[in-house]
Amino acid sequence: MSGRIFSGVQPTGALHLGNYLGAIRHWVRLQQDYEAIYCIVDQHAITLPQDPKELRGATREVAAALIACGIDPTHSILFNQSTVTAHSQLAWVLMCQTPIGWLNRMTQFKEKAGKQRENASAGLYTYPVLMSADILAYNATHVPVGEDQKQHLELARDTAGAFNRQFGVEFFTLPEPMILGEATRVMSLRDGTKKMSKSDTSDYSRINLTDDADTLAQKIRKAKSDPIEGVSFDPEKRPEASNLLTIYAALADRPRQAVEDEFASANFSTFKNRLAELCVEKLSPITTEMRRLLADPAEIDRILDQGAGRADAIAGPILRQVYDIVGFRQG
Ligand code: AMP
Ligand code: TRP
Repeated sequence: MSGRIFSGVQPTGALHLGNYLGAIRHWVRLQQDYEAIYCIVDQHAITLPQDPKELRGATREVAAALIACGIDPTHSILFNQSTVTAHSQLAWVLMCQTPIGWLNRMTQFKEKAGKQRENASAGLYTYPVLMSADILAYNATHVPVGEDQKQHLELARDTAGAFNRQFGVEFFTLPEPMILGEATRVMSLRDGTKKMSKSDTSDYSRINLTDDADTLAQKIRKAKSDPIEGVSFDPEKRPEASNLLTIYAALADRPRQAVEDEFASANFSTFKNRLAELCVEKLSPITTEMRRLLADPAEIDRILDQGAGRADAIAGPILRQVYDIVGFRQG
């Protein structure tokens, strides 16, 4: 084993192609070489309002999606965050090591809080500290994520360093980000300058892993394009075409340049038809398997509970050592 991986995904709606290409398919591959811990971060989800019933459903749905994508829960650890108390307990300790100035720099808070910053929850503001706790509670060595999480990971490293310095220990490992592949930032199908996201109000902006073949093909056909002839990669001038090329290359597991060469003189609709076929070919088996798993929610719960037990067995002792280092009297 070359180290211990930790990563997380929010249960705030169906997983989409950005999650899959930017993160999950790498998580699947990494299971072979690393001890892997994958967490459905329900405590992160409530930093924005969630409907309780939907949150519980989405947690099971994300678990099913991860297993359908190839996460093996008998090998890797798969669980939901709120079932392992060490995350929030460690977050408090780390909160006390994190200067407010560091949090003020987080761009995702600014984006998510929008104009209503004064009304945003303290949870949304301190979200990156909970994320640091997720990782440090396992002393994970590597964290595979999409581009958008880079700044949060830098904060996790800084926080680990601040704790070690404050207490004069070499306790926390500084986790390495792993931002892998070509599709580290998959963009919206409606606007090539915006990230594909679960929270976009238009369902046509993203491909969900739950979409059936017809919906999926229709979304690709309706994806925004441009009037320029041929298909080429130029994120500045042709953000939409560039995004679709990147998606194609990532799904086909081919270098982007090769795909660009192949479609250089093709018209856009031909390219989109081929991309739609490729999406259906790669994603339909995942969707089918996910539906099968979701028919038995008790089995998903059993898998998550088992994962929580294994996660707690690692994080519990680490938290107790942290409590000892900071000087908490423990019974
Ligand atoms: P989230 O849905 O925000 O919990 O993200 C789960 C994982 O998917 C994280 O590693 C993100 O960096 C990654 N991710 C989310 N959206 C995208 C996107 N549009 N492109 C690439 N990776 C993404
Ligand atoms: N913040 C991440 C996201 O929105 C999810 C996440 C929470 C995470 N805790 C983590 C990712 C720990 C990696 C490691 O995508």
